[in-house]
Amino acid sequence: MAEIIGRKIIKFDGIDSTNNYATKIAGNSEVFEGTMVLANEQFSGRGQINNTWESEPGANVLASIIFYPEFLPVHYQFMLSKVVSLGVANCVSTYVEEVKVKWPNDIYVGNQKVAGILIENSIMGMNIGWSVAGIGLNVNQMMFQGNAPNPVSIAMLLGNKIPLTEVVSRLCRCIDKWYAKLKNNEVSTINQAYLEHLYRFGIESDYRDKEGVFRGKICAINKIGQLQIEKTNGVIGTYHFKEVIFL
Ligand code: BTN
Repeated sequence: MAEIIGRKIIKFDGIDSTNNYATKIAGNSEVFEGTMVLANEQFSGRGQINNTWESEPGANVLASIIFYPEFLPVHYQFMLSKVVSLGVANCVSTYVEEVKVKWPNDIYVGNQKVAGILIENSIMGMNIGWSVAGIGLNVNQMMFQGNAPNPVSIAMLLGNKIPLTEVVSRLCRCIDKWYAKLKNNEVSTINQAYLEHLYRFGIESDYRDKEGVFRGKICAINKIGQLQIEKTNGVIGTYHFKEVIFL
């Protein structure tokens, strides 16, 4: 059983967005760390950069987890993104192979996206007050209507559906394991695992930045979570989210 993550679960049949609810209650003294908000259906599920998140009612995991990583300086907030990504990736790996983390925190199987993560923080001085990690994990949906690029679910890959309750408890255990390492300051273990799971790490591929299309290899993630790509001309490009497109 997970020790912290999911020790309290608040479950809704339908809600606008589990992240909206979780960010409203985070920080209340009676809402302890690891509280998970779950829903069968979201009416306005939110993705990154104002995208919507598509999910058929009752088919997938729609979860938001509340963290209080007060020990984490603001400039290391990407560490939380790493541990949540690794937890989700490990959970998916119990069902299918070739699971990767596409920087910054999309979970891919081969070239298809199986889960997305949306992290929202409150900052207190130099540290993080609360953090909400919203996770949309496609489990039993067999068809996607929207225009999200290459969506896939575990059931589409496996050929059979799986009980959501089983996936949720695995997810809690997997994220718990990585969050415990973060609390324990096992930074190099986390960084190494993140690179080992990183989609296209060290593989020459095509990208586009503000200067145009180029070929290069992802060579590192810096301390503040920026992506670094070594171009074929030897120059290293350093990017914030959305400053580079994977082609
Ligand atoms: C992405 O765009 O990749 C991030 C998607 C995050 C979706 C999840 S579903 C549960 C939680 N509630 C939301 O409204 N969004 C996140």
